[in-house]
Amino acid sequence: MDRVETMRAISQDVLGGPEVLREVRVERPAPRPNEVLVRVRATGLNPTDFKHRARGGFLGEPPFVLGWDVSGTVEAVGVGAALFAPGDEVFGMLPYPFGHGAHAEYVTAPARAFVRKPAGLDHVRAGALPLVSLTAWQALTEQADVRPGQRVLIHAAAGGVGHVAVQIAKARGAYVIGTASAGKHEFLRGIGVDEPLDYRETDFAQAVREVDVVLDTLGGDVSVRSLRVLRPGGTVVSLVPAGPDDFRQEAERLGVRAVRMLVDADHSGMRAIAQLAEEGRLRPTIARTFPLADAAEAHAAGETGRTTGKLVLVVD
Ligand SMILES: NC(=O)c1ccc[n+]([C@@H]2O[C@H](COP(=O)([O-])OP(=O)(O)OC[C@H]3O[C@@H](n4cnc5c(N)ncnc54)[C@H](OP(=O)(O)O)[C@@H]3O)[C@@H](O)[C@H]2O)c1
Repeated sequence: MDRVETMRAISQDVLGGPEVLREVRVERPAPRPNEVLVRVRATGLNPTDFKHRARGGFLGEPPFVLGWDVSGTVEAVGVGAALFAPGDEVFGMLPYPFGHGAHAEYVTAPARAFVRKPAGLDHVRAGALPLVSLTAWQALTEQADVRPGQRVLIHAAAGGVGHVAVQIAKARGAYVIGTASAGKHEFLRGIGVDEPLDYRETDFAQAVREVDVVLDTLGGDVSVRSLRVLRPGGTVVSLVPAGPDDFRQEAERLGVRAVRMLVDADHSGMRAIAQLAEEGRLRPTIARTFPLADAAEAHAAGETGRTTGKLVLVVD
């Protein structure tokens, strides 16, 4: 009988706080046709990990292994997966939401979830980028088509999504207004924000006008209030899937666009992100790294909601 190969993974049997996470040994997956098996070197943490750990979300009841961000090395390729060969260094996002499982030593996924990792980008930085960058890329280029000279407002500009969205908007030639608490304004200027706004002191809806695109990472009344800072024809892209019913109605009344979106695995988006990273125009800030075994501590740090940049799990 063949010996079953196992691997370490961070799993949970019940929903709850970070303490429900535990390291387990599970069977190592094998790549199916058109899939690759990737040895994970680094994997980013995202608020969607904390939400699924606590409430199940799209995944329902555990057990499950969370995580969507991957940077690693191709270990094996499935039948027909001709894009890569064993040994290739790749990064990408597992299909969201049902392709989860990156918080482990190995994952399988469709080969096209991945692109080659630029040589100058280390695994920690590459593992931080995929989910937040694809989100920002899809919001700012597909939904909003940001163009040179346009005014873009990014809420929570120092966060995981926000700090890459700023850099993508700048790479497209936009003027960027970004919100964060005052202590983070130097950081915002450093990543290219033209106009930092302290959301604790200033109401953006009073202070900002004539905006072409708003990236709404916050939801609640921020979604509807963001519509009011737009120029006619402008767009608010909200990343919060459920929210007030009046978002679309108010947009229609004002002659602007209201979009809600979920990030989607996207090979061409990942290629664009790899190129921006290679050109030095997209650089993630790493707030802190944790060994895979300390995933619970990493979740606890992340769900404070105060992270500047990204938290990353490193898989030795
Ligand atoms: N729809 C999708 O597909 C999708 C994809 C990715 C993310 N998301 C969602 O987008 C949200 C942001 O994700 P993330 O990864 O960027 O989170 P994050 O990294 O945890 O965000 C942390 C940042 O949020 C800032 N912040 C908190 N409250 C704020 C406020 N009221 N105004 C301005 N900034 C504020 C904090 O700055 P201060 O310390 O200065 O407050 C901190 O730097 C999450 O809800 C996430 O689930 C959705």
